[in-house]
Amino acid sequence: MYKYKKKEIIINDLKKYVGNEVLFECEQFRIKYRDRMGIVGNSGIGKTTFLNMLAGLDKKFDGIIENNFNRTFFVPQFDEFPNWLGVNYIIRRAKHLSKISDIQGNFIIDQLGLNSLFQQKYGTLSGGQRKVVLVGVALLSLPDLLILDEAFNGIDDNKRRELFTFLNKWIENNKITLIFVSHNKNDLALLTNKVIKIKNKRITF
Ligand SMILES: Nc1ncnc2c1ncn2[C@@H]1O[C@H](COP(=O)(O)OP(=O)(O)O)[C@@H](O)[C@H]1O
Ligand SMILES: [Mg+2]
Repeated sequence: MYKYKKKEIIINDLKKYVGNEVLFECEQFRIKYRDRMGIVGNSGIGKTTFLNMLAGLDKKFDGIIENNFNRTFFVPQFDEFPNWLGVNYIIRRAKHLSKISDIQGNFIIDQLGLNSLFQQKYGTLSGGQRKVVLVGVALLSLPDLLILDEAFNGIDDNKRRELFTFLNKWIENNKITLIFVSHNKNDLALLTNKVIKIKNKRITF
């Protein structure tokens, strides 16, 4: 019999080690369908490590992480593409690899203002522009779980407001579950409605 799995992440008795030291632990936790989960915590506390684990990229831990989403997309904290790659190529490829319609794909490209970056190489973009390109690639791939690691730094306030307004609507309309690591209270307030903390080697709510 086909067993329907709810789209959620279930965590049980989780313990992550770096060497012999516990980095953090978490007894029980669920990230539910359409949650907008913020994650906060000091630098070096393990946020990026936790995201890698949630995304299934880091499998070295004790306990259970069951990720029942179909399409998890992880936007990393640091760059992903080589400097010489054209933005045009990056975006067109992402669109091509996805089942997204032309109308939807072009809408994302338009809303994120990616057209104006098409002629540039990835390496010539500012930090903020790079992040927008990465978010574009993520949305074009039609994820049901979107994981964003840090920093929309380097995007000016107007652009940022536009970007977040669009992201909010897109996430809502496409029923995306969001996990967002940030140090910026404003950004967290705009995009998330729940927050967990990593503190004293524990994930707390
Ligand atoms: N592969 C690794 N090998 C050794 N140490 C690591 C590795 N990955 C992460 N760490 C350590 O784990 C800690 C948490 O790192 P990270 O998850 O990047 O923190 P955050 O994102 O909260 O700033 C850091 O002290 C880092 O040095
Ligand atoms: Mg980090």
